[in-house]
Amino acid sequence: MWKNRHLLGIAHLTRDEILELLDAAVRWFDLPRDGTGSPRVLQGRTVVNLFFESSTRTRTSFEVAGKRLGADVVNVSPQTSSVTKGETLLDTVRNLEALRADAIVLRHASSGAPEFVARHTMAAIVNGGDGAHEHPTQALLDAFTLRRRKQRIEGLVVAICGDILHSRVARSNALLLGALGAEVRLCGPRTLMPRDAEALGPTVRVFGRIEDAVDGADAVMMLRVQNERLAGAMIASTREYARTFGLNARVLARAKPDAIVMHPGPINRGVEIDPRIADSDRSVILDQVEAGVAVRMAVLEKVIQAADVHRAGIRATA
Ligand code: NCD
Repeated sequence: MWKNRHLLGIAHLTRDEILELLDAAVRWFDLPRDGTGSPRVLQGRTVVNLFFESSTRTRTSFEVAGKRLGADVVNVSPQTSSVTKGETLLDTVRNLEALRADAIVLRHASSGAPEFVARHTMAAIVNGGDGAHEHPTQALLDAFTLRRRKQRIEGLVVAICGDILHSRVARSNALLLGALGAEVRLCGPRTLMPRDAEALGPTVRVFGRIEDAVDGADAVMMLRVQNERLAGAMIASTREYARTFGLNARVLARAKPDAIVMHPGPINRGVEIDPRIADSDRSVILDQVEAGVAVRMAVLEKVIQAADVHRAGIRATA
């Protein structure tokens, strides 16, 4: 039974909670496309997307997920909100709560921002990516995609290659895949590898060469170099990076013959991934996007229900 009113990171979830979310997502994923049979379990509820960083997939799929469940979804963009007039994050959230937002999906450049906000609100807080810390729904949709393709997660070998240092996707994935018993291989230039990367889990290992990381892998997940976090200065040149750490046919040939290629997007064609690989039938990049809606439906339903229980509990003791 789901109890968490917030989804702040994979680090807070047990193995059973992860599986509960993935199983709930399967139900939503399997609904017919024509919209029939879609129970509007969030009818009359309000979900606010509060994104302080750019996003295409995450923001849109939270919006689609909320709407498919019947919720009203409002997008707040800081560029056109009173944040530009000096309003703090917490005041912004308190105002959204006063409008009776049931859930707030927060993306923020500061690690820990969702956790901080969660301590001061009755609304359900969902982390839509915080700095280089966590991106829990991305890891869940990645796990969903892997499980669908490979029928299991336990025992799989997953290579995650690129700018690990700045990647909340890599962190959340390493935690989740470790919790479900997959072997995680992290690979990237030394300058883009956190010193304590292996501390992310007992099944996490660090590789300096992509050929070694990909060797015998069931899945290869490529990551973008996060130039907005100044990672560009930590590599010699884009061309050199593509040659050394890019995924091309030669490198992919080292993986299992049925290995799948993943990427959270946005992809930088010709940098971390050869466009022919991105567009090939080995790539599940768009399947990941599709899975994102079902996973976010599961998350929104569960956190809003838990927030209701929490609110009722407070009322009962008041
Ligand atoms: C990622 C993010 O924002 O963390 N994208 C996403 O949510 N799908 C990865 C990235 O920006 O490189």
